[in-house]
Amino acid sequence: MKILLFGGTGFLGEKLAEHLQKKNLLYIYINKRKSKFKYNIKEAKIKKINYEYINKFVNYNKIDLLINLASLTSVELCQKFKKKSFKVHVELPKILSKISKEQKIRIIHISTDHLFNGKQSNSYKEISKPFPLNYYAKTKLLGEKEVKKSGNFTIIRTNFFGLNKRNKNSFSDRIVSALKNKKQIDLWSNVFFSPLHIENLTYLINFLIKQKIKGIFNLSSQKISKYKLGLLIASQLELNKKLINKNLFDQKKFVKRPLNMSLCNKKILKYFPFLKNKLTLRSQLQILKKEY
Ligand SMILES: NC(=O)c1ccc[n+]([C@@H]2O[C@H](COP(=O)([O-])OP(=O)(O)OC[C@H]3O[C@@H](n4cnc5c(N)ncnc54)[C@H](OP(=O)(O)O)[C@@H]3O)[C@@H](O)[C@H]2O)c1
Repeated sequence: MKILLFGGTGFLGEKLAEHLQKKNLLYIYINKRKSKFKYNIKEAKIKKINYEYINKFVNYNKIDLLINLASLTSVELCQKFKKKSFKVHVELPKILSKISKEQKIRIIHISTDHLFNGKQSNSYKEISKPFPLNYYAKTKLLGEKEVKKSGNFTIIRTNFFGLNKRNKNSFSDRIVSALKNKKQIDLWSNVFFSPLHIENLTYLINFLIKQKIKGIFNLSSQKISKYKLGLLIASQLELNKKLINKNLFDQKKFVKRPLNMSLCNKKILKYFPFLKNKLTLRSQLQILKKEY
């Protein structure tokens, strides 16, 4: 299969590219950073986010699948650089969706767990009503709307952690680095999410690429607070839990965020019950031992 990957130089992108390159010919859109793979990967030097150019590229190279992970992932930066955020979260998906529709190519698009107001206590389902609280969430939601227009899409809502070799600032990186250096770290006990380890997420995205299934899917584990997950990570890696301080997220200090971002994984399990062991918290934690 010939795949054009946007965001292939990022945290998730590099992991996914590592898996995909084994069986596919991969073209990676280069924004600023270079990819560091040598195998079955071609770097797509697409200078601008421009419909004509990308369309021609897709046509000429006979691309079979578009994957979009490109994003400005910092909530704070999105709020500050709104134009940049709109471009990558809305304009790019709009172009890719149009190409997907016209050329009858499937698109797989990575969205976020950040789309809701966080006021409900249960985990959010794929059919729950979004209510974005900040510009990152607002533009990610608009991006989803664009992707849906293609009619040939799989949208994945998720959140993930694991060893980020490039800049070591994933949720687990920050905890492991602090505790190994005997430094204190504050973690929010009033913010809930349901992240996957990037290894499991990559496996699941790979699995969904092979399936013909369309629609929105939550790929998530179980609802847990950031503080509690920090404690579990420390236990798993036999690091000093006492350095973790229980803290409360203060809306006044940061850009507004939902307090509950957890996603319900029942839909994906209804289709593929055998994936259950990839979606438990235990499974996410077990992988950490091998990498840190
Ligand atoms: N990290 C998380 O926990 C998390 C949680 C929920 C959802 N997600 C979603 O998962 C996806 C991947 O996240 P990640 O953590 O792997 O992100 P990341 O490490 O920050 O990488 C982002 C990627 O997007 C590219 N990019 C940024 N601006 C671009 C632009 N204008 N045009 C084209 N490419 C551009 C970057 O390239 P350059 O570096 O060269 O600019 C990079 O390859 C994103 O869609 C994000 O919204 C992530």
